[in-house]
Amino acid sequence: MPSSSVPTCLRWVGDAAGHLELLDQTLLPTRLEWIECHDVDAVVEAIKSLRVRGAPAIGIAGAYGLAVAAGEAARSGLEADAARAHVLARAEELACARPTAVNLRWAVERAVATLEPLAADAPAAGLGATLLAEARAIHEEDRRLCAAIGRHGAAILPAGNILTHCNTGALATGGDGTALAVVTTAWEQGRRFEVFADETRPLFQGARLTAWELVHRGIPVTVLVDAAAGHLLKTGRIAACIVGADRITANGDTANKIGTYALAVLAAAHGVPFFVAAPSSTFDLALASGDEIPIEERAAAEVLAPLGVPAAPEGAKAFNPAFDVTPARLIRAIITERGVIEPVTQEGIATVLQK
Ligand code: MRU
Repeated sequence: MPSSSVPTCLRWVGDAAGHLELLDQTLLPTRLEWIECHDVDAVVEAIKSLRVRGAPAIGIAGAYGLAVAAGEAARSGLEADAARAHVLARAEELACARPTAVNLRWAVERAVATLEPLAADAPAAGLGATLLAEARAIHEEDRRLCAAIGRHGAAILPAGNILTHCNTGALATGGDGTALAVVTTAWEQGRRFEVFADETRPLFQGARLTAWELVHRGIPVTVLVDAAAGHLLKTGRIAACIVGADRITANGDTANKIGTYALAVLAAAHGVPFFVAAPSSTFDLALASGDEIPIEERAAAEVLAPLGVPAAPEGAKAFNPAFDVTPARLIRAIITERGVIEPVTQEGIATVLQK
């Protein structure tokens, strides 16, 4: 449990023959319900429909999903070869469930790599035990990374109110969060401020999830429609903007929830520092710039009928990219578990990530 009042968003129940439980984030903030994933189809569905979401959290879910895959193989009585082939096929389905957050493929590939040293005749149960151990390690590591990001970020966060976008807290990670951990760490250190949370259309992660986490932690939060951010920044009431990331390329370009780029442009226009907080697993150094990041396009219904309520006439089309890319030049610093990258340059990124 990352804090006394915000539940963890995912947990494994039982031994290697057990199952994954996910807090169904599509129901928050009104209902707190867990879903049981006994097969990979359920894990993939949960990732695609954002029952579990946030770059680090979907990586952890993907890694646990491999243990679920080994459980499927064991229950079907597959021989060693077939069990391994089954797990590898399921791994690819999990890694492809969402395209933008690199943490998903990173975690799945890391878990798959643990199978390589195992004997070719290792039974499904053996694969499952190894995969579960690795998923647990990734989960526990993420909890520690979040704490380190919180500490590094709190040390450089300017005094005053904070504006954030989407959800980057306990609901998005295996610990207390990335950008939101910076905020909550600063608060726990005794700093006092107000958090402004963009509602984050079309799926309202800011209003439904970030505000929920902050209310539970007793941190004052004010929700605004995304379009109010420019006006708010103009009033001078915001000392810093801080967001998470789904993929950061070698030059520091950062993919994050749609609306992040607009917020960064507005922050620059008003001289407000714009920070990104993310673990090293969110960096994709194989990509030279943000132009190469695949951007997930989601269903039109999310825009045309937000929260299930029709808001546009039948016949209208929707433009619904789930993420955008903020160029490195608009980012004051990137806060990682290994330290702060400031200024954001290719050399600075390489230096901090090597630590
Ligand atoms: O579509 P979502 O809700 O998965 O998008 C999440 C974000 O964009 C977060 O800001 C990002 O994953 C960082 S989470 C620590």
